Amino acid sequence: MQKRAWWKEAVVYQIYPRSFMDSNGDGIGDLNGIRSRLDYLQTLGVDVVWLCPVYDSPNDDNGYDIRDYYSIMREFGTMQDFEVLLADLHERGMKLVMDLVVNHTSDEHAWFQASRSSRDNPYRDWYIWRPGRDGREPNNWASHFSGSAWEWTEETDEYYLHLFSRKQPDLNWENEAVRNAVYDMMQWWLDKGIDGFRMDVINAISKVPGLPDAPNPTGARYAWGGQFFYNGPKVHDYLREMYHRVLSKYDIMTVGETGQVTTADAILYAGEDRGELNMVFQFEHMDLDSGPGGKWDVRPWRLSDLKQVMTRWQKDLYGKAWNSLYLNNHDQPRAVSRFGDDGKYRVVSAKMLATFLHLQQGTPYIYQGEEIGMTNVAFSDISDYRDVEILNLWRERVVEGGEDPTSILAAIHKKGRDNARTPMQWDDSKHAGFTTGTPWIRVNPNYRRIHVKEALANPDSVLHYYRTLIALRKAHPIVVYGRYDLVAADHPQVYAYTRTLDDEVWLVICNFTAEEVSFDWPEEVPTSEPEFLIGNYPEQEGDIRRMQLRPYECRVYRA
Ligand code: NOJ
Repeated sequence: MQKRAWWKEAVVYQIYPRSFMDSNGDGIGDLNGIRSRLDYLQTLGVDVVWLCPVYDSPNDDNGYDIRDYYSIMREFGTMQDFEVLLADLHERGMKLVMDLVVNHTSDEHAWFQASRSSRDNPYRDWYIWRPGRDGREPNNWASHFSGSAWEWTEETDEYYLHLFSRKQPDLNWENEAVRNAVYDMMQWWLDKGIDGFRMDVINAISKVPGLPDAPNPTGARYAWGGQFFYNGPKVHDYLREMYHRVLSKYDIMTVGETGQVTTADAILYAGEDRGELNMVFQFEHMDLDSGPGGKWDVRPWRLSDLKQVMTRWQKDLYGKAWNSLYLNNHDQPRAVSRFGDDGKYRVVSAKMLATFLHLQQGTPYIYQGEEIGMTNVAFSDISDYRDVEILNLWRERVVEGGEDPTSILAAIHKKGRDNARTPMQWDDSKHAGFTTGTPWIRVNPNYRRIHVKEALANPDSVLHYYRTLIALRKAHPIVVYGRYDLVAADHPQVYAYTRTLDDEVWLVICNFTAEEVSFDWPEEVPTSEPEFLIGNYPEQEGDIRRMQLRPYECRVYRA
C-alpha cells in the first residue's frame, strides 16, 4: 500500500465565488452566500473546499489579478466574513484551500505602482522590465489572452512582461525580496488556519534568462513562448525553498496548476519525497479537442486519445507521485457538454463521467454545478460574455482581424471560460435562486430544468449519484490506493479499467457513446461471481461474459 494521506482520501469541491451564491442582492456571489450553502456541501460529502481568489482585486480577470493579498474583495465580504466561513467549515470537519496567485499581481498592486514609477525605485526589480527593441516589444511572446505579452509604460519608456492580461504584470522571482514577501504572505494565511493552496500557473515563475524570441514558423505577429517560461530553470529551486520555508511547517495540501507538463515533470513537482507539492493539475486531457491552431481551433476529441493520456498519467505516477482528477474547472467548458451528451443523455452521461473520473487513482475535484450536470451556455450576443480572454479574442480576431464572427462565436460556445462561470443553478425561481438582484453574468436559460432543488428531490439525479460515489470512496480503500490498469484497450466505444488492491479487483466499464454496444468481460480479470457495485442504470440481468451496454452506461463490479 502506498503512503496514506488525508488529501489523497479527500474529495475537493471547487467554488468560483463570483458565481456561487449571492447573499446581498448585488448580483455577485459572496462569502456569506457560500456560508449559506454549507449544508448542501456537507450532504454531498466533500471534504475540502477550494476557493478561487477572494482577495482584493480590480477584477480584470475575476480575482486572478490581486491588488492586495491581505484583504478580501469588497464584493465578496470582509475579513471577518472570511474567518467565520473558515470556522464554519472546520466545525463541519471540512477544510479550506485558497488560491495562491503569485506568478503575477494586479497592475494596481502597490508593488507595481511603485515599480512602474521610476527606474531606480526599490520595487523596480520586483517585476520584469526591459527596453524596447527597434521601437517594438522586447521579444515576440504572445500573451495567453491575445496580443503581446509586453506592455509599454510612459513613465520610464520600458516594457513590462505580462503572460496574461496587461493588468497582470509578472513578478520577478529572481528577486529574493519578492520570494520573501510571497512566503510571508503564505505564512500569514496559513496561520489563520487555512488548509492549503491551489497555486495558479506555478510552473511559470522561472523564466529562461535572456527571454529569447519564441519560434515563429507561421510568421505571426506574436508567438507562443511557453518553452521559455513553463518549467523554467529555477522553478524547482523556488518550490523547494517555498516548501522548506513555509509549506513543510503545516499539515496542508498543495496542488499546482501546471500547464505544459509531462508525467516526468509531474514526478519532479509532486514526487512523494521531493519536498515540493502534493499534486499538480496537468492539461493533456484538456487539450484533446484543440487543433494545431490551439485552444480555439476546436476539433472532435477521440476516445483512444483519452485512454492513452489518462492511462499514461495513472501508470507513470503510480507509487511515485499523486494525480489530481478533474474534467472541468472555471477555465474549461462543462464536462457533460464536452465529454458526454448535454441533451438527451445528460443525466446518464454526467453520471458515467463521474464514475470514470472518481474511480481512477488521485484526488477528485468537483467543479460547482458539475454535481447537478450543469451544461455549457451559448449566448448569441458577444455583449453577454464577461471573460477577458473571450473579449480579447473577439477584439483581436473579429473587430480588428475581420474574421467571421459566426465561427469565432461557435468556438466560444465550445471552449469559452464563461461556460463554467454562469451562476450556480439553485432552483427554478428568477436567476436560478443565485441572486435577488441582476446577476453579473446571465444565468444559463436551462436553469428552469436543471437546478439543485430538483436534484435534491429526485433520487435518480446526478447529485445523488455523486453522493453515492463519494461514499463508496470513503468505504473502500481500493478506490484511493488501488493500482489502475487499462483493459480492453482497443474497444472503440468503451473505456474500461481495473483497480487492484491486495487480492481485491474492481472493474469499471464506461460506454462513452449514445449507442448500445457490447462489451465482453475481459479475460485477464478472473472472476467467478462478480458483484455489481454501482452503475447509472438499474442492474441488468443477463450474461456477464457478454454485456449489452446502454447509451453512456457505466457499471462497476467487484470481480
Ligand atoms: C489560471 C487561472 O485558473 C485562470 O483563471 C487565470 O486567468 C490565469 N491562471 C491567470 O491567473
